[in-house]
Amino acid sequence: MSRLFAYIVCVLGILFFTNTFINISLADGDEHEYKKRHRDKKHFEHEDERELSLVENPTYAENCGACHYAYQPGLLPSNSWKKILDNLENHFGELVDIAPLATLEISEFLKANGANQSHAELSRKIMKSLGDQTPLRISQIPYIHKKHDDIPQSTFSRKSIRSLSNCSACHTTAEKGIYDDDDVTIPRQ
Ligand code: HEC
Ligand code: HEC
Repeated sequence: MSRLFAYIVCVLGILFFTNTFINISLADGDEHEYKKRHRDKKHFEHEDERELSLVENPTYAENCGACHYAYQPGLLPSNSWKKILDNLENHFGELVDIAPLATLEISEFLKANGANQSHAELSRKIMKSLGDQTPLRISQIPYIHKKHDDIPQSTFSRKSIRSLSNCSACHTTAEKGIYDDDDVTIPRQ
């Protein structure tokens, strides 16, 4: 009797251990697979949709990147860019003086590459949140505004930041067209 009992305990024990072992190794394998797939997917998105097109027009980069960083055209719809270009003599309180030929080239570039023309995920989110608004500022786009709600006002008194318009102060990959929250470092002063 006691031998039979010992035998059953032994068999159950073996079953239990092999089962747990198999479960653990399966779980490990699954998790590994999941992470790998997840990473691959993210990578795929990055290449395909997450990045805004780069600022590849030297006339735009030179003239519109003189006082602030040259915003990617995909951050505003073409109509907003048109409004901005139509009012360069009073550009947020400053005079922007650009030769007529260069202005024409910039205007074509912005018209062809505005957020309404872009397949990037960020441009699509921007267009969706805008409805029929045509803001003059990227920082006034509801989606962008909402994403920065939590940043305390005092942060903007830091010399290297000054305003929300200064995207590249905090987004370390802004110039590559990547505004992922993983790539944000808020400067301390
Ligand atoms: C003479 C300096 C100067 C030049 C050149 C200039 N800007 Fe600006 N821009 C400004 C200032 C000042 C602001 C307001 C910044 C602020 O409020 O923080 C501004 C703001 C902007 C904004 C709004 C940013 C935001 O979301 O708050 C956009 C868009 C913009 N400029 C586009 C352009 C374009 C397009 C050109 C080229 C045609 C250009 N800028 C050339 C000075 C300039
Ligand atoms: C003071 C620093 C700062 C400035 C300046 C700033 N951002 Fe951000 N941004 C952040 C932080 C912090 C987050 C992350 C917010 C969160 O995770 O809730 C963020 C989030 C975002 C997101 C969402 C990213 C995601 O993965 O969901 C976008 C898009 C974005 N910012 C675009 C911009 C643009 C465009 C500008 C310039 C017009 C700008 N930001 C200026 C700090 C900044």
